[in-house]
Amino acid sequence: VTGPGRGDATGPVVGVVGGGQLARMLAEAASPLGVHLRVLAGPGDEGAPEVVADTVTGAADDEAALRSFAAGVDVLTFDHENVDHGVLRRIESAGTPVRPGVATLEFSDKAHQRRAFDAAGLPVPPYSVVDPVADRAAATVTAVAFADAHGGGLVAKASRGGYDGRGVWMLSSSEVADFVADYDGAPLVLEPRLDLRCEVAVLVARRPSGEVRTWPVLETVQVDGMCDEVLLPAPVEPALAERAGEVAGRVAEVTGAVGVLAVELFVVVDGDGPTVLVNEIAPRVHNSGHLTIEGCRTSQFEQHLRAVLDWPLGPTDATAPAAVMANVVGVAGVDPRRRQELALAEVPEAHVHLYGKTPRPARKIGHVTVLGDDLPAVRRRAGLAADLLSGAVEGSGA
Ligand SMILES: Nc1ncnc2c1ncn2[C@@H]1O[C@H](COP(=O)(O)OP(=O)(O)OP(=O)(O)O)[C@@H](O)[C@H]1O
Ligand SMILES: [Mg+2]
Repeated sequence: VTGPGRGDATGPVVGVVGGGQLARMLAEAASPLGVHLRVLAGPGDEGAPEVVADTVTGAADDEAALRSFAAGVDVLTFDHENVDHGVLRRIESAGTPVRPGVATLEFSDKAHQRRAFDAAGLPVPPYSVVDPVADRAAATVTAVAFADAHGGGLVAKASRGGYDGRGVWMLSSSEVADFVADYDGAPLVLEPRLDLRCEVAVLVARRPSGEVRTWPVLETVQVDGMCDEVLLPAPVEPALAERAGEVAGRVAEVTGAVGVLAVELFVVVDGDGPTVLVNEIAPRVHNSGHLTIEGCRTSQFEQHLRAVLDWPLGPTDATAPAAVMANVVGVAGVDPRRRQELALAEVPEAHVHLYGKTPRPARKIGHVTVLGDDLPAVRRRAGLAADLLSGAVEGSGA
C-alpha cells in the first residue's frame, strides 16, 4: 500500500481518522507544537476540512483508503472510533502505531466496558446485558426479571453506536417487555434509573511509556441525555474528588489507554454517603474536556498529541478559580457564524469555538468557555454567550 507519504512535513505527522470538531481542535493544538496534522475526513464530515490544509477525503470504513492514509503518518489516532478493528490490527502490523490501540478501542462498547470494569472491581451501576436480536425470548425474560428485581424506572442503552443520548432509552418497568420485543439493534445494557446527585467527568492522559496525568474533576450537566454545560470546579468534597481521580486512573490502567481518555461518573448517595460509579468512558478527547483549552494549564488536545507521540505530558491544574463551558446547540434556521459580534458585544470575555458545522436542531455546532472568580456568575455568562450564538435568545441590541 502506498500512502500520500510525509509530503513536505518536517515534524512528526499525526493522522486523525474522522474530520469533525475533535480533529479540528486537535489541529488547533498541533500548530504551535510544530506537529503536522493530517485528517482522513469522510465525504460528509464538517469541522476539520474547513481549517486543516492537509485533509484527505476517504471513508473510515474503506480499508484501502485507511491503510493508504496510515502508511503516510507517524502515528494514527481518532476523532471517532467507528473503525474496523481488524483493519487497525493490520495497520499496526504494517508498522504504523495506532493510539489508542485496538484493545482500548474495544471499550467503546458499553457492554464490554461494564463487564470489564465490574470484573476489575471498579464501581459500576447494577446492570444486565441482553441481546434481543440473538434470542428475543431469553432477552425478554432477563430484562423483565431485572426490572422486577430493581423496581422503579430502567435505562436501556445500545452497547454500540449511541452518542448524545441517542441510543439511551428511559423506560418504566411496565414498558420493558414491549421495548425488548421491538428492539433490533446492538446488544443492550440495562440498568436501574439512578437518583443522581450530579454527574462528573475525569479526563486522564497516558503515554505509552506509562506517564499519567489527570485533570481536576469536572461537573457535567446533561439536558435530554446530552451534555449541555461543564463546570470547574465540580461541586464535590475533596475526598470524593480524590476518589473520582483514583477511579479514573484505574480505568486508564484497565483499558490500557494511550492518549486522552474521558471517564464519565455518576455521583450517587448510598448508606455511607456520596460515592462515584463509572457510567461510561470514551477513549479519546471529549466534549467534557473542551474547557481545558483555556481553563487548564495544558488542554486535552495538546496533551493528546503529546501522549500519542510519547512526549512528556504537561501540568493540568486549573488556570482560574472558575471555568464554565456551554455547548452551542443548533436551532433551526439560525447560523451562529453570523452571530459572533452580537454574542461578543454582550459577553466580550467569552472564548468562542465554532466548529464550522451546519446548524441542525440538537446538533452540537460549537461551544463557549468563560473563566472568572465566581462560578455562578461565570456560568450565567457562558450560558448567555452560547444562547446568543445559537439563537436560543436574541441580543438586547437586536
Ligand atoms: N442509570 C441511569 N440513571 C439515571 N440517569 C442516567 C442513567 N444512565 C444514563 N443517564 C443519563 O443519560 C445520560 C446519557 O447516558 P450515557 O452517558 O450512557 O449516553 P451517551 O449517549 O453515550 O452519552 P454522551 O452524551 O456522553 O454521548 C447520562 O449522562 C445521564 O444524564
Ligand atoms: Mg455519556
